[in-house]
Amino acid sequence: MDLFLGKHDFAGKKILVTAGPTREYLDPIRFLTNRSTGTMGYSLAKAAACRGAAVHLVTGPTCLADPLGIKITKVESAREMQAAVEEIFPEMDIVIKTAAVADYRPKITANQKIKKKDGDLSLSLARNPDILLELGRKKKHQILVGFAAETESLLEYAQEKMIAKNLDLIVANNIKEEGAGFGTTTNIVTIITKEGQMHRLPQMTKIDTAHAILDHLRMLAE
Ligand code: CTP
Ligand code: CA
Repeated sequence: MDLFLGKHDFAGKKILVTAGPTREYLDPIRFLTNRSTGTMGYSLAKAAACRGAAVHLVTGPTCLADPLGIKITKVESAREMQAAVEEIFPEMDIVIKTAAVADYRPKITANQKIKKKDGDLSLSLARNPDILLELGRKKKHQILVGFAAETESLLEYAQEKMIAKNLDLIVANNIKEEGAGFGTTTNIVTIITKEGQMHRLPQMTKIDTAHAILDHLRMLAE
């Protein structure tokens, strides 16, 4: 039973949530990716829908079931995610970018399976577009929320990202902390507003963390 059932404080709001990792293909069977499972993003999408928002979830590959009542667009690469996000961005009120987007992709994706040869193999990588940075440049009425996954200098790095990407809120988590980060059922996050307020939340399930983030967003979206 969801405690927030019936609390429709996001009714009338259009929310875009991105989730999961991206896959950057080397050849038809191999790709670069990361440890994101999509749980935090799916939890945010479900929590927002539960609170009355019209939610569009753009997600990289995950093992999670499609949430009911939520529009879902499935993508693989960072560039596919960018195209899907940019198409729907203008009509959104709030964008929450939980996705762990690969910063680099192989410069060349081979059409055929790469065959092994004697000796080492070197990969050349190209920078992927920073989807959130581009949204920050384009934003008009939208509220933009980023996530910062860090292993050190958490609050400093998170604040730098919030400023560089023109965000309204950033959710910082130290992925090395026990009970936080990738592949865990709980998270420990610090919510940082652009006014510089910091709220460290205790260890909570990802769905409870999602509701707490939405509680903060509610104040901005008045
Ligand atoms: N992000 C994005 N597009 C990218 C990389 C990141 O939209 N190509 C978004 C993420 O979805 C997240 C935020 O930017 O909301 C911060 O992502 P993170 O990986 O923590 O930061 P980066 O800016 O990529 O910096 P770095 O990985 O070097 O710490
Ligand atoms: Ca990154």
